[in-house]
Amino acid sequence: MTTTDIERLEQLFSQKSNRAGQARFTNPRASGEKIALSSGFPDPRSMPKADMAESMRLALEKDGEWALQYGANRGYDRLLEQLRIKLKRDQGIECTDENLLIVSGAGQGLAIIAETFCDPGDVIISEEPTWMGAVRHFRNLGVDVETVAVDAGGTRVDALTETVERLIAAGRHPKLIYTIPNFQNPAGVTTTLERRKQIIELARTHTIPVIEDDAYSDLRFRGERVETMYQLDTSGMVIYLSTFSKIIGAGLRLGWIVAQPRFINAFAALKPEGGTSPFVSAAVSEFCASGTLVEHIGELRSVYAGRHAAMLEALGNHMPDDVTWTDPDGGFFVWVTLPDDVTVSQITPGLQEKGVDVSPGTMFHFHGGGENAVRLSYSFADEGQINTGVKVLADEIAAARSRS
Ligand SMILES: Cc1ncc(COP(=O)(O)O)c(C=O)c1O
Repeated sequence: MTTTDIERLEQLFSQKSNRAGQARFTNPRASGEKIALSSGFPDPRSMPKADMAESMRLALEKDGEWALQYGANRGYDRLLEQLRIKLKRDQGIECTDENLLIVSGAGQGLAIIAETFCDPGDVIISEEPTWMGAVRHFRNLGVDVETVAVDAGGTRVDALTETVERLIAAGRHPKLIYTIPNFQNPAGVTTTLERRKQIIELARTHTIPVIEDDAYSDLRFRGERVETMYQLDTSGMVIYLSTFSKIIGAGLRLGWIVAQPRFINAFAALKPEGGTSPFVSAAVSEFCASGTLVEHIGELRSVYAGRHAAMLEALGNHMPDDVTWTDPDGGFFVWVTLPDDVTVSQITPGLQEKGVDVSPGTMFHFHGGGENAVRLSYSFADEGQINTGVKVLADEIAAARSRS
């Protein structure tokens, strides 16, 4: 086949594929060779390998013939049962199986929810900056995204209200509001209880579903849990989304959606693979039922508390006075705002040369912006690497300044 043949075949790609563009074939293993302050990968040293091996053995022994079979499309029964227990215990969410759908990661969950409500050209409202996976999913879908800033108290509800009212006045009904209320990725901020209630009220008044992406709430290492929006909502507007990626292992590819049964039914109809990974689900249900999940989350909280402390200390020690950063109560991320006269593209080559990876702020924006910010993650690198990485970042900022 010649290059021209391939080019002709490429002309047949769908509009969705053209919007998605080229894949970046990333490999998390490569991060192991660097000081990776860039990714939201969970701590490699805390992976519960032995406990998971035992959970897999038990899963096969107890229910191997069904664990290795195609699965029920809502999800593996025992995992649904364990999730109901977990959601009640840890998130204050009481639900039945009709409210649940197991998906292959929260990322897939988000794509399915967005696809259920949106056609190309529809409008979604999202926080900005926000998780780059959401930036990608919404772009692929061809929706317009209106953005709302976050501050120390989380979603700016004044801006959200103004955006909703402006869109409705212009005859454009927002199809979804997307929010990450706990330890927001990438900003690290948590939306206050008061604002959560205001968002729900706004959504109810204008009939706009709210996606509550709660990937990190179990990893709170400081302060009191703020009630989930799903728990606070009595109108059925909130669609809750979460994952085992950060609390057991991202390699499981297992997440869940909690929502009204009518929504769940629609999501399940769009789910490409039918029942998600029964074998992995069976192992995870054993991991939960044995009490290992609760223990493991406790251990992770102290690991990430230590990393967070190391990150904050390093920032305090190395950064010049005009660099600012957020201070999360949990999760993985700190959002660092660079001095006005320094952009992320000026410091990236130097960082790469010295083997330090950070995430440029631009990755978390829909329509440009974020040039003078970086997201630093303290989940993957250890304390020593965090200190070295932050020092290198501070040196690169100083070098960029002296060059200009
Ligand atoms: C806010 C947020 N939502 C969803 C995900 C993806 O979760 P999963 O690994 O379950 O697809 C991530 C992972 O980085 C995240 O930060």
